[in-house]
Amino acid sequence: MERVLVLNGPNLGRLGVREPEIYGSASMADLQESALAWGSGLGLAVDVRQTDDESELVGWLHEAVDARAHVVLNPAAFTHYSYAVRDAAAQVTTSGLLLVEVHLSNPAAREAFRAHSVVGAVATGTVAGFGFDSYRLALEAVAARLRTTTQP
Ligand code: DQA
Repeated sequence: MERVLVLNGPNLGRLGVREPEIYGSASMADLQESALAWGSGLGLAVDVRQTDDESELVGWLHEAVDARAHVVLNPAAFTHYSYAVRDAAAQVTTSGLLLVEVHLSNPAAREAFRAHSVVGAVATGTVAGFGFDSYRLALEAVAARLRTTTQP
């Protein structure tokens, strides 16, 4: 079974408490439960993690490369300024693995500083603005891409 690391950056452990009008009332534990269920429906072994620490997130991206795991990544605020996360994300896609950038909100419709993602240019694709469904759509995109690339 193909593995997918669903990696979440800073403040996403506060889901449910943090700005619920933007991020909703469900928690990271709820997201984890949903993502595991979506993954099992799609035949993907999903592992959901969250960290507030840039170096830990970079380490998980290195782990994805070494373990040949695909990635669904919500870099949170790192999206907008972390060249370290971008460079680690680039190693995932340049090694032939999929990396889908996801956002709960639509950053393009918010403050100007959120309009630019330093990660987007090295991602396979981006899904933003659909709440938890951004993750479901990203997992579906990974499964669909894997189906087409494994077909003759
Ligand atoms: C976010 C959007 C980012 O701009 C913000 O810093 C986050 C969450 C999202 O999922 O909508 O922390 O990545």
